[in-house]
Amino acid sequence: MSIRFCEENKTFYLTGKECSYFFRINNEGYLEHLYYGKRLSEENLSWMFEKMHCSFSPCYMEWKDISLNVVPQEFAIYGRGDYRIPSVLVKMQNGSRITDFRYKTHTILDEKPAISCMPTLRGGETLVVTLEDKVNHLEIDLYYTVYEDVSAVARRSVLRNGGNTAVSVLKCSSFNIDINRADFDIVALYGAPTREREIERTPLSHNISEVSSTRGASSHQANPFMALCDKTANEYNGEVYGFNLIYSGSHSIKVQETEIAFTRVSGGINEQDFCWYLDVGESFETPEAVLAYSDSGFNKLSQQFHDLYREYLINPNFAYKKRPVLLNNWESTYFDFNEKKLCDLIEKAKGTGIDTFVLDDGWFGKRNDDWSSLGDWFVDSNKLPGGLTAVIEKCRACGMKFGLWFEPEMISENSDLFRAHPNWHIAAPDIKACKSRHQWMLDFANPEVVDYMKKTVGNMLRENDISYVKWDANRTMTEFYSPYLPTERQKETAHRYMLGVYELARYLTETFPNVFFEGCAGGGGRFDPAMLYYFPQIWTSDNSDAASRSYIQYGTSMCYPLSAMSGHVSICPNHQVGRVTPMQSRMDMASFCSTGYELNLHALTEEDFAKISGHIAFYNSIHDLILKGDLYRLLSPFEGNYFSQMVVSKDKTRAVFIIMKLLAKCNDAYPFVKLKGLDKDKYYFIADMGTFKGDVLMNIGLRFPKNLKDFETKCFTIEAVKKES
Ligand code: DGJ
Repeated sequence: MSIRFCEENKTFYLTGKECSYFFRINNEGYLEHLYYGKRLSEENLSWMFEKMHCSFSPCYMEWKDISLNVVPQEFAIYGRGDYRIPSVLVKMQNGSRITDFRYKTHTILDEKPAISCMPTLRGGETLVVTLEDKVNHLEIDLYYTVYEDVSAVARRSVLRNGGNTAVSVLKCSSFNIDINRADFDIVALYGAPTREREIERTPLSHNISEVSSTRGASSHQANPFMALCDKTANEYNGEVYGFNLIYSGSHSIKVQETEIAFTRVSGGINEQDFCWYLDVGESFETPEAVLAYSDSGFNKLSQQFHDLYREYLINPNFAYKKRPVLLNNWESTYFDFNEKKLCDLIEKAKGTGIDTFVLDDGWFGKRNDDWSSLGDWFVDSNKLPGGLTAVIEKCRACGMKFGLWFEPEMISENSDLFRAHPNWHIAAPDIKACKSRHQWMLDFANPEVVDYMKKTVGNMLRENDISYVKWDANRTMTEFYSPYLPTERQKETAHRYMLGVYELARYLTETFPNVFFEGCAGGGGRFDPAMLYYFPQIWTSDNSDAASRSYIQYGTSMCYPLSAMSGHVSICPNHQVGRVTPMQSRMDMASFCSTGYELNLHALTEEDFAKISGHIAFYNSIHDLILKGDLYRLLSPFEGNYFSQMVVSKDKTRAVFIIMKLLAKCNDAYPFVKLKGLDKDKYYFIADMGTFKGDVLMNIGLRFPKNLKDFETKCFTIEAVKKES
């Protein structure tokens, strides 16, 4: 049993693999947070907060001299003396925003209920605590799920209107927690297109810090992730709390040191330009949030997220299944292709080990550049007179499967779809909407639009032998207005848009269960757990330069498993940064994710082809580690001149290791790199190096060649052997 309620102390004891999460119902019926951290025995902790006073803080009459401003809360109400970040803001018909939610009841569930229209983790044991506001006839269900095999708690909330009049939900957080210390640093993953998920560390302060997106997408700029860590924490030491939202739209995670040296963290849908009209009898469900815990550094925190997502989030039909090895035509042809060009490319790939050819942007409508045709998901017979069939048959003849690119959320002004439905895109009345990449966003808040896309994309998948889909989304939202929604629901546009995206993703992935979907958003602009729920892998970045990838993949791995990141070997000079890196380095970096190719194979030499076959054979030999193993980050490119990681099988019998030197230096030191995660008593064989005992590899390490050149990598496997060999 991972969840227990003690009637005597009115305390809920939630226990994860190595973490505990305790809270109680206090005398006034508020949920008071007691503890979240390293696993503890289930003690009575009510003494912790009995003597909390704070001068000049408002207290209401019944509750003597205790103010809500100093009570650590599970869900913070607004306007009753708690001046910290509120969890819920509801505007009643009479204009009041003051609510007072207190404990009503609770249940413990073995089966985790799904959220309607939104992704959620599966499995675990779930506690639902219902709070009620008797005056305003509102109720909130707080959901908590814990897992025996992961140190994490999943949280979300549901607000119900049980009154006789509609109310406006101005804010409803997925979670709130008041941790009883404040000596933290904040770590976040910020970025930009082609520079996604860089690691930034700042001190926690009394001012509110926020990781947020207001773009209607989880964004390149601010991944929906935040960590709080000991000031001295590093990859392998220190307490770290991680927060990640299972949401792909505008989000916010706020954190604040409070006057009593506690830390309040709160997160969910971004409240900017948000308001949900909650009619009588209706409920509003928030996205789920994951609170993961590590007692020994960031690496262990990442392992919690990876295990949780692989086991309980990603589609189980694909989570541990070998991924397709792709050849994507984008950087090879861009829009300039025809049937012959594609077939020649497929022919070139024959026999290399590449198993799926992906036709990217430009196959539909009259799309010869990015100014037209989004929405017209019909094959361009000028480019492809034999339709997709001719290309698919060529793939089949060359022993490959076929994949196709869509951008189902978008519309071009120059498209048949726009001419037929000029009011199907997101735009404010009488104002021509901003374009981004010359395109608009379809109004996915309108179910008719979503249904149209179900039919159109669905037909393409039904009529053609397609085994893989790349779902792209190349802009974010402006003019947050849905021509479909009534006036009072306009501030629901961004969230309803996201619900429409999830509905289309649900429909397509359920209707075509054998099709493998990859998410993409102008590179890695929507790399979040909600997308991962539908799409087992996501295009990590349009930047496939090997050196840039060392940063992007290192940062992304903070939260997301390696198998979730797709990475392709591309040409040099690199199309994004112009850098020249060794082909082997590009291959090695691409081996540490779900691999593929994206270059003009005709420009390669025979020697290059031999390398490709070698790379794919190597990748195939380690793919089970990439899918299932434990990641250990060894050297951070953010902190030095090297990138190094290894992945170890759960039974510690196999591992794969990579190191990259960023810039060569004359007479550079050649340090020992201590390996991690091996069995200290096992012996391991490393080709060209020898056999070493696990404790030697982990305590002395391996020494690397002094003269690694710019961006050069070394990548090898490590196998447990009997001592004699
Ligand atoms: C952006 C994606 O990230 C690229 O990989 C490619 O699919 C283009 N869109 C196509 O327009």
